[in-house]
Amino acid sequence: MRTARLLLRQWCDADREPFAALNADPAVMAHMPALLDRAASDAFIDRTCAHFDQHGFGLWAVAVPRVSDFIGYVGLSVPRFSAAFTPCVEVGWRLARAHWGQGYATEGARAALSVGFLSAGLREIVSFTVPANTRSIAVMQRLGMTHDPADDFAHPSLPADHPLSHHVLYRLSPERWLAHA
Ligand SMILES: CC(C)(COP(=O)(O)OP(=O)(O)OC[C@H]1O[C@@H](n2cnc3c(N)ncnc32)[C@H](O)[C@@H]1OP(=O)(O)O)[C@@H](O)C(=O)NCCC(=O)NCCS
Repeated sequence: MRTARLLLRQWCDADREPFAALNADPAVMAHMPALLDRAASDAFIDRTCAHFDQHGFGLWAVAVPRVSDFIGYVGLSVPRFSAAFTPCVEVGWRLARAHWGQGYATEGARAALSVGFLSAGLREIVSFTVPANTRSIAVMQRLGMTHDPADDFAHPSLPADHPLSHHVLYRLSPERWLAHA
């Protein structure tokens, strides 16, 4: 998929090394429970490829032609945990630190939302993170997603007293997406 500046594409073996570097960067992973080592990073790619096979969409590897062959991922995924708002489809992003501040996440996410609403016919797309992840929340808000505090939740994959337990949920309907686009 092409956007004005990005190529959203399938993953290739050459992505494994730069993705592992990104997953080992404390700045990128500041709001995740842990850094990923090479094996966990590779397993993430393998799960992502299987997700495309299962759902027809997923977290695309992102390239910026003439700038970088791989800057991270943007796309759609079906969370594996159960919560009040699941089953659902989440829009998500993770970019190498050197490529923040360019609007790439928002640009890529807009293309992902088009796939979700137009091709896959989804009736809702959500996104969630910890309140401290203000950069990610800003992307959600730029996309027109809305937050109702009543949707806030304790992430079921973490102990209730974990500092990253509390999450905010943002939602987007196709109607609001169309009005916002
Ligand atoms: C979350 C994350 C993807 C956000 O990246 P980001 O670069 O802040 O977001 P965008 O790509 O939308 O870029 C927006 C910024 O680019 C700027 N920008 C520069 N050129 C731009 C352009 N041509 N078009 C649009 N925005 C542009 C905007 O002004 C904005 O700057 P600001 O942060 O000073 O307000 C990034 O911080 C990240 O990868 N974090 C680690 C992983 C993570 O936490 N993922 C989410 C887990 S829930």
